[in-house]
Amino acid sequence: MPVVAVIGAQWGDEGKGKVVDLLAEEARVVVRFSGGDNAGHTVVNRYGEFKLHLIPSGIFSPRATSIIGNGVAINPGVLLDEIDQLNQRGVDTSRLIISDRAHLVMPYHLLLDGLEEEMRGGKAIGTTRKGIGPAFADKIARLGIRTGDLLDREVFRERLHFILNYKNTILTKVYGASPLSEDEVYRQYCQYGERLAPCIRETTVLLEEAIKRGEMVLLEGAQGTLLDPDFGTYPYATSSSPLSGGSCLGAGLGPARIDQTLGVFKAYCTRVGGGPMPTELADETGNLIREQAHEYGTTTGRPRRCGWFDAIAARFSTRINAFTQVAVTRLDVLDIMSSLKICVGYELDGKPIDYFPASAAALDRCQPIYEELPGWQVPTSEARQYDQLPALARRYTDRLEELIGCPVSLISVGMRREQSIFKMPLW
Ligand code: IMP
Repeated sequence: MPVVAVIGAQWGDEGKGKVVDLLAEEARVVVRFSGGDNAGHTVVNRYGEFKLHLIPSGIFSPRATSIIGNGVAINPGVLLDEIDQLNQRGVDTSRLIISDRAHLVMPYHLLLDGLEEEMRGGKAIGTTRKGIGPAFADKIARLGIRTGDLLDREVFRERLHFILNYKNTILTKVYGASPLSEDEVYRQYCQYGERLAPCIRETTVLLEEAIKRGEMVLLEGAQGTLLDPDFGTYPYATSSSPLSGGSCLGAGLGPARIDQTLGVFKAYCTRVGGGPMPTELADETGNLIREQAHEYGTTTGRPRRCGWFDAIAARFSTRINAFTQVAVTRLDVLDIMSSLKICVGYELDGKPIDYFPASAAALDRCQPIYEELPGWQVPTSEARQYDQLPALARRYTDRLEELIGCPVSLISVGMRREQSIFKMPLW
């Protein structure tokens, strides 16, 4: 059985949670490899509807071990709430494992995320304010505290003392905010550590053994390619890599281990937060898509910006992730449209270009060149096979496939697990 990376191919919120939940039925290990509780993965299955922020969407599969990988920034309070809520609703979380190398989101990260955003004023990124940027910045600055540190109180105390001293200086002297109490943070994180300790362990051996046994492993991304700190619309980006390359680093395996890279695209585009989005529809059509699809952030409740499918961004995403196959989600949202547009090119300062510019300012100036296709205006949510889709819906997904440059193997026509069409065998 293959090792499959499930990657957000646009600006996040593509429906990775549903895809992972669906595929996890066959998986033995599901590893969440990036982001933190800035992510919100909606899963609708026989247990009900869930909004997961940190726990892998494979948690519902009774045969799978779920790992929160080293590449995730964990707010332990949020994680424990999520575990409690799942348990209260009858979901077994005893197969949850947390990498001892994963970094912790600390209370000062949350404060600094808000203070830094305010400092940016009109240039604010529109972060989720979950402390994720500051936590990953500390990881790289070698000022992070990791889950494994919670297992040794002396190590934890010493590390906290050194780092909090530094953070309190920034909080008070740069921002004029109140300092945090070392004793309070210590006590609270020791409590978290006590509860999480049975789950915290080394995870690379477990992963290697599962792969050697030929078991199916899913690598679950968070956010989307166009929010990647290197390739996304920098600085309007997140702070860990949602790319297939990021899945190796964030789960702890080499690139040669990955057999399939499944890119998840919505049938249109959405984005939440600031930054350029060439196909944004700041008009009635955009509002229509938002209301039809209930496009509001899972984590923050913010309205998502909606727009037409951007094939230039999609091809870029396919290139840097090397997708081997693609899932197109939320096709049913477009059922109401009488006609549909797909962006097939950009015009930058009056000249056509065929690449996704690195500069956010340049991307902001790009004018989309559209191709128009007729809508199908027939409900698709009951279709279970490709040939049950209206001919015009097939024409639309075939065109997306052509433009993306990668086979579409899965089409989603609703939130529920069964509202899925396998256009071709996944492996
Ligand atoms: P941060 O990751 O909270 O620092 O936010 C940085 C940018 O990424 C902002 O534009 C957020 O709206 C966006 N972002 C973070 N997580 C998600 C997500 O799960 N879905 C969509 N956008 C996200």
